[in-house]
Amino acid sequence: MSTLFSQPESSLNTFAPRLLDWFEINGRHDLPWQQHQTDTPNPYVVWLSEVMLQQTQVTTVLPYFARFMDTFPTVQDLAAAEWDTVAEHWAGLGYYARARNLHKGAKQLVEIIDKTGDFPQTLAGWESISGVGPSTAGAIMAMGLHRYGVICDGNVKRVLTRWAAIDGDITKSATTKELWALAKRLTPRESSGLFAQAMMDMGATLCTRSKPACLLCPLQDDCLAHAEGRETEYPVKAKKPPKPSKFSHALLIQNTEDELLWLQRPDNGIWGGLWSLPLQFVERVDGKTGKGQNSTKDKSLNVRSNEKVYETEFTTAEQIINEWLEENKIIAESMNNTLLDDAPIKHTLTHFHWYLTPYKLSISTTQITELNDKLGAAEIEFRWLTTQQAEDSLGLPRAMGKIIEG
Ligand code: ADE
Ligand code: SF4
Repeated sequence: MSTLFSQPESSLNTFAPRLLDWFEINGRHDLPWQQHQTDTPNPYVVWLSEVMLQQTQVTTVLPYFARFMDTFPTVQDLAAAEWDTVAEHWAGLGYYARARNLHKGAKQLVEIIDKTGDFPQTLAGWESISGVGPSTAGAIMAMGLHRYGVICDGNVKRVLTRWAAIDGDITKSATTKELWALAKRLTPRESSGLFAQAMMDMGATLCTRSKPACLLCPLQDDCLAHAEGRETEYPVKAKKPPKPSKFSHALLIQNTEDELLWLQRPDNGIWGGLWSLPLQFVERVDGKTGKGQNSTKDKSLNVRSNEKVYETEFTTAEQIINEWLEENKIIAESMNNTLLDDAPIKHTLTHFHWYLTPYKLSISTTQITELNDKLGAAEIEFRWLTTQQAEDSLGLPRAMGKIIEG
């Protein structure tokens, strides 16, 4: 009898063989990053794909992964690449901190390889790489090195909370510990890589979030959630407070050559390291947030008047641009009547919904010279590029793509 787990020893012992049998017949064996059919696995491929797959689905990742492997076939290629090239390859995958960690991680890996002659060979070694958490490190150990490794990512947590009817809040560390302990207990010493891949496939294809296919599942006989018909009540997760909304203008400042002004976002904020049109964050003063209510005219478009927003949301370049626009009264007329709720671009980020409204500003050649001088004097990195050039040569967040295409 096991006292640690809600499942009996017989169930714990047969979990892996049942899952592996299912995987052999029904699992995915043609994903380009899989290394289980080779004797000499490539940890670079597994590391790269696992970072890409952290918050993104397989079908979305596939073309990005192919392009990365084309351009950066080895970790040395990735480490040696310019950040802008990496960002441009990542653009559209979202969660840009991952791309920055990936680039940094590549440099760390090359340093280790130069020193030791090989990729890290231990769990701790991989966990020390930027962007690699315990589950990703376990996946790389198991699948990228054919050593022993345990994974416990979102998919695994969903399967295990259901199978063992674990009803603790999975955002709590006590529940996380319990799930890791169970994952370790279930992972076979010999084939942890196959087991990891099988767990991921099970979670992604059978034990899905809203419609688990229990009748096809190799675990259905002793799955406790299934026995109770309460599959979708797991995993239990504390409700997050609703996301706040933010509103901004994206300024299309155009010169006479049809080029737009582009700025690089600072590393430590929204879209860190990517390129964006200059932004003006605006705050509603009528107390309403979000879509769906009656649109009300915004009354606080004097962006400078809101010091808090001004200090926290703008880059130095944007402060210069916004001050300059105001001094020169180049704020577009229509902006004063913005219906913020009608913003054409809605973009949902980790911590807020973002409503973006593009604004075209026409400024004279003399004014452009003046603006260039101002930005130059402040040592700001900026570029004047046509939309085509920007799309081809800069890492743009998806929202910017929407603005310049629309
Ligand atoms: N999600 C995370 N890692 C994965 C993998 N190796 N295969 C499929 N889905 C995944
Ligand atoms: Fe998930 Fe259903 Fe299988 Fe249980 S029986 S592990 S709920 S698919």
